[in-house]
Amino acid sequence: VQSSGGNVTGKFGHPYGYGFLHEDINNSGDGGIYAELVQNRAFQYSKAFPVSTAHYFPINGAKLTINNGTQPLSPALPASMRVAAGNGTGKTGFKNEGYWGIDVKQQKYSGSFWVRGSYNGSFTASLESNLTTDVFGSIEVPSKAVANEWTEHTFELIPEKDAPNSNNTFSITFDASKVAGGSLDFNLISLFPPTFKNRKNGLRLDIAQALADMNPHFLRFPGGNMLEGLTNDTYWDWKDTLGPLKTRPGFQGVWGYQQTHGLGMMEYLEWAEDMDMQIVIGVWAGLALDGGVTPKEDLQPFIDDALAQIEFVRGPADSPWGKRRAELGHPEPFELNYVEVGNEDWLAGYPLGWNSYREYRFKMFFDAIKAAYPEIQVIASSATSDPAPEGATTGPNTVNGLEFPEGAIGDYHPYREPDELVEEFDRFDNDIGHIIGEVAATHVNGATPPRWNGPLYKYPWWIGAVGEAISLIGYERNSDRIPGTFYAPVLKNENRFQWPITLIQYTADSKMTTKAVTWYCWSLFAHHPITHTLPTSSNSSYGPAYWVAGKDENRNGALVWKGAAYNTTDGAPVPVSVHFQGVKPGTKASLTVLTNSVGDPYAYNDPFTGINIVDTKTTVVEAGVGGTFEFSLPQLSVAVLDTDVG
Ligand code: AHR
Repeated sequence: VQSSGGNVTGKFGHPYGYGFLHEDINNSGDGGIYAELVQNRAFQYSKAFPVSTAHYFPINGAKLTINNGTQPLSPALPASMRVAAGNGTGKTGFKNEGYWGIDVKQQKYSGSFWVRGSYNGSFTASLESNLTTDVFGSIEVPSKAVANEWTEHTFELIPEKDAPNSNNTFSITFDASKVAGGSLDFNLISLFPPTFKNRKNGLRLDIAQALADMNPHFLRFPGGNMLEGLTNDTYWDWKDTLGPLKTRPGFQGVWGYQQTHGLGMMEYLEWAEDMDMQIVIGVWAGLALDGGVTPKEDLQPFIDDALAQIEFVRGPADSPWGKRRAELGHPEPFELNYVEVGNEDWLAGYPLGWNSYREYRFKMFFDAIKAAYPEIQVIASSATSDPAPEGATTGPNTVNGLEFPEGAIGDYHPYREPDELVEEFDRFDNDIGHIIGEVAATHVNGATPPRWNGPLYKYPWWIGAVGEAISLIGYERNSDRIPGTFYAPVLKNENRFQWPITLIQYTADSKMTTKAVTWYCWSLFAHHPITHTLPTSSNSSYGPAYWVAGKDENRNGALVWKGAAYNTTDGAPVPVSVHFQGVKPGTKASLTVLTNSVGDPYAYNDPFTGINIVDTKTTVVEAGVGGTFEFSLPQLSVAVLDTDVG
């Protein structure tokens, strides 16, 4: 069997990329990887999500109301919380419940809040139990508050001890007898634990570390549906996410909650930089989730905006938008080689009215981006296998009735059953380039519509991970045209989610952060990068074993074989002999084999038991007679052989 390999991977010199899409779904940004602990910190709102004091609770009889209008903190943050003193004695104020709790450890928390009103005393900021009278840490913050002006207060708080669980709150109290007028207005109430790489306004350490441990190579952002927005005037506008938090209005999220904009364009770029990932940025294409279409005659400002966004990322510090980036602390341009126009806008013209993407929209963005940045790989947010409507165009670069401008590649999103993912293996052997911008085994084999049902839709299961691994091998075989594959969606907060199948699950309690079975397969492949695929031949055909071979020029030409066995009915191990041309007997390689330790194909990693069902075995093996490595693949296993033994 001849593989379609034998090519240099990609065109930007990076190895074939394993990564993920991030958008704020499942509280994966706010309440997820964005480390802010205070929920509803700035009383942001939108048409879909009215302003409220949700997640705050009064202390000592205080009265909490929204002040919407009088002297706002900033034009971006028009609402604030008015805290009127109660009748009781002692300090009065409020507490915030965080994102379904707050993890309290003996570490440094950085806090801040803005106050308007005259107060001649001190504030007390505390982390305390929601169940007992335990106060884990407290700090006095001298007031700078004056009448008719907003003043910022900052503090650092180190609890004296760890809390036994995450059922904790953060409170701010003050001495009502020293407040002129009986009330104070509060806004931008913020508390951060230590963050990944110590970034200010950064990422939650344990979640970011779990992702970094996967050795990811690619980040696609900001969506997904989030980029598109619910309506044409509520898309994720990157410009709203820049600079001080005070200037960020927040975003009407598309997944059922208001977003803070805290995880903005710069934070995404720093995230990619901190994990050494290539990026794919999505630029808004003038199409929204409700079917809203920005017509051709109004499109130019959005094309200009996409060019500005690209300049913000990779322009020199003396270019107009590069200068803005430099002012925000990053004079060096970020590396940006991939730009995607919209999300799931289907060249085929779905839903109704979106034919414009195929007819002119993608081409207008493509031409403008290519004219300014000829080397950028522009990506259409659709695949050549998307359903072609009647009357689809024909042209020189037409596949399945869909026309891609010369040089463009597509984006393919298979959310499938494990069996279907195995069928994906040769999907790209004869096609133009694509990214696999979103992929996951989301439905059990034979699921009946609606496919999202039943108790298995909690976490990725082992057979899904193996099916996925085979599709990944199939994509990587075509890495001369496929730069990388992205898991999606990647994170899930167990307390509020709508999409259960994700790579990592968590709650406020960092002990609950769990890597799904799938994470182990992606991590294995990502830890053995290849820069060139190698042509392969075999005396047996693909199935039940599937494989790809390659070498990694960044590791002295290390030779790598990645494989998986999808032997669902016959449980007999699959014998494998691998011979790389030129390899002599006695050559050493590491062999890592992943299996499911409980023998149930639908077993999964459950954060509530904390048991990892993935069994990882690494051995050093030696090439025998003829320079051949001999081993076998157990039932439903994923494996990598790598001659780089360190
Ligand atoms: O990953 C979840 C959603 O699936 C994405 O937002 C969208 O692009 C896809 O349909």
